[in-house]
Amino acid sequence: MSQLAVVILAAGQGTRMRSAQPKVLHPLAGMPMLEHVVGTATTLNPQSVHVVYGHGGEQVQQQLDHLEVNWVLQAEQLGTGHAVEQALPALQSEAMVLVLYGDVPLIQSETLNLLLQAASGSDFALLTVSLDNPTGYGRIVRDPAGNIARIVEQKDASPDELQLNEINTGIMALSAERLRGWISAIENNNAQGEFYLTDIVEMAVNEGVSVQAVNAPSETEVQGINDRIQLATLERVYQRQQAEQLMREGATLIDPARFDLRGQLTTGRDVVIDINAIFEGDVTLEEGVTIGSNCFIRNATIAANTEILPNTVIDSAEIGPDCRVGPFARIRPETRLVGGNHVGNFVEIKKSEVDRGSKVNHLSYVGDSTIGARVNVGAGVITCNYDGANKHRTIIGDDAFIGSDTQLVAPVEVEAGATIGAGSTIVKTAPAGELTLSRAKQLTLKGWKRPQKEKK
Ligand code: UD1
Ligand code: CA
Repeated sequence: MSQLAVVILAAGQGTRMRSAQPKVLHPLAGMPMLEHVVGTATTLNPQSVHVVYGHGGEQVQQQLDHLEVNWVLQAEQLGTGHAVEQALPALQSEAMVLVLYGDVPLIQSETLNLLLQAASGSDFALLTVSLDNPTGYGRIVRDPAGNIARIVEQKDASPDELQLNEINTGIMALSAERLRGWISAIENNNAQGEFYLTDIVEMAVNEGVSVQAVNAPSETEVQGINDRIQLATLERVYQRQQAEQLMREGATLIDPARFDLRGQLTTGRDVVIDINAIFEGDVTLEEGVTIGSNCFIRNATIAANTEILPNTVIDSAEIGPDCRVGPFARIRPETRLVGGNHVGNFVEIKKSEVDRGSKVNHLSYVGDSTIGARVNVGAGVITCNYDGANKHRTIIGDDAFIGSDTQLVAPVEVEAGATIGAGSTIVKTAPAGELTLSRAKQLTLKGWKRPQKEKK
């Protein structure tokens, strides 16, 4: 095929979103809808991608600065034809141009490839779809032989034309050279006073170009987002697609309707994900991992056969194999559980390494720590890692036992095999193999009586 240039229209205001944010920045599955379209365009290996922006332009460009696209300003929104015209100077004449929309995020590469194929044979192909209720859309008008003759917009259509069910999705592929000629001839003498891109269809036909129609395989693929209701509808469609893909790959989702993936999820065989789990960023669940209900997991790897119990939050951490984490645990960035670990309810672990077989089962804070293998951290143990200015490390050797309600005031070390008595405040090294404790002596006041209320 000749080289491909993609033009994505994204200058519309999006009034019906009722938002301070430009419409195309509203996220679908955690990513701006425009970025979905750019991502799909990129899979077609285009020579160039041009985004026509307008409303909230700086915001759009700033937030999507990482995208390798050519930003084209449309200062005033005078219609889709005018929008495409802004990109023309950047297009090479021998290119095939594909027109996409920043607010039509679920379009698939397979469909676009079919469209490009159709256009390579005839110079012009349109993606159309037939709708039970075509109200609002441009209608495809065909000649008696069934060939495309022109497109008429809803507001310009005759009563007969309004009966037509085949609509223009707006997505089209055509030769840049021909586009250049047709665009310059578009006028705005129509009901909306806009420069309609759709007018080029009739021009093409008049020049003897046969405009090919490719049927979109589904309505949702070509559905535009105008308001937050449509955004939510397409969010669920997209989540369903992702869920089905994961199930095909061998993961069990207890309820695919209550599953959210905002990023990439890689699953091994026999992963089981209970309801209302949310995955963000890059997450890997190895074979046999189970995720309980209401978990939030971001940028994490969870190794084979680990069980994450309900209501657990894991962010930017590495969880080894055969662990049991939660319920109600919070694993924060730069944490590594090596394997066979138990982390229980109301335990927070941050920037710490916990070696094989060690357990932190109840109500603890472990921060900036290195914990050896087979350590038992009792209930309510706190690493006091922050002195108000700096963070300090706590080091706990293999086989240590930290009694409940201990404060480890960092920097501090508990050596291998050491035992710390419950309720201790440890401020210096606890030597290997010994019992260390700091505790006020228990005393009993013999015969002491509780005060009594005075009787009236
Ligand atoms: C357009 C089509 C219509 C089609 C429908 C599909 C035209 C004239 N009509 O109508 O046939 O059925 O899409 O949804 O093309 N945009 C710009 N700059 C502008 C105007 C629009 O970037 O000056 C962008 C918008 O951001 C939007 C897209 O182009 O993403 C479509 O514009 P919109 O005004 O919504 O066109 P429709 O009236 O829906
Ligand atoms: Ca529209």
